Amino acid sequence: MTEEAIPMWIEDSVLHIGAEATAISGSWMGREAVLKKREPRAYRHPSLDRKLTRQRLAAEARVIARLQDLDFPSPLLLDVDAEGGWILISRIDGVPLYDALQNGDAGLKEIHKFGELIRKLHENDIAHGDLTTHNVIIDEHGNLTLIDFGLARIAPEIEQLGLDLQVLNECLTASHYNFESAVETMVDGYLSADSGNSSAISNLSAKEVVERFNAIRGRVRYHA
Ligand SMILES: Nc1ncnc2c1ncn2[C@@H]1O[C@H](COP(=O)(O)OP(=O)(O)OP(=O)(O)O)[C@@H](O)[C@H]1O
Ligand SMILES: [Mg+2]
Repeated sequence: MTEEAIPMWIEDSVLHIGAEATAISGSWMGREAVLKKREPRAYRHPSLDRKLTRQRLAAEARVIARLQDLDFPSPLLLDVDAEGGWILISRIDGVPLYDALQNGDAGLKEIHKFGELIRKLHENDIAHGDLTTHNVIIDEHGNLTLIDFGLARIAPEIEQLGLDLQVLNECLTASHYNFESAVETMVDGYLSADSGNSSAISNLSAKEVVERFNAIRGRVRYHA
């Protein structure tokens, strides 16, 4: 699969080479876009690899399309070819929250907002699956946009919702320990955004999810 085969795509520069995908910046029909290409993994059996690639990309596209319908701050789906192993999404202006927290351009206020945004995602019946500060982009006005839905789940169980908070807890404690009350602030934000009117099938309250998070956190501590 070469880039030339992707219709109307003009490649600019490589943004990120990840474990599973390469993210490339460019333009598509005159708009700023990002191409995420899944590279074949030599350590996996080729037919299993193709199947996994197809499934993950299709899942990512479904989640992004759904968020788009909900006006949730996430990239727009422009094009996808699950067989070809790529997805084209709109490019979000800004920097990863990770960087902004490291260089002091963001702080507890933004962490609180991140917690609110996660609650909004959960109320729309989606678990993210990889909630780190690398997967949220902050723009110059302080607006947050969530990205990277490659591991997201529609209609998740409470455990997956609790795990979203646990993954972020681990990220905040490992990378942003200079913000002492980061985890507490994120949880406060999560609880404060409980609309009491979730459209999720499970209809779990923010409090119930936080209780599950605390149980997972206790489990991890116990085994550490
Ligand atoms: N829509 C976008 N707008 C701006 N930057 C983006 C966008 N999508 C991805 N990026 C940049 O590319 C990086 C990698 O993208 P992403 O997180 O989606 O992939 P990944 O972590 O490699 O994927 P996966 O977890 O599926 O292996 C992001 O951290 C971000 O810096
Ligand atoms: Mg990522």
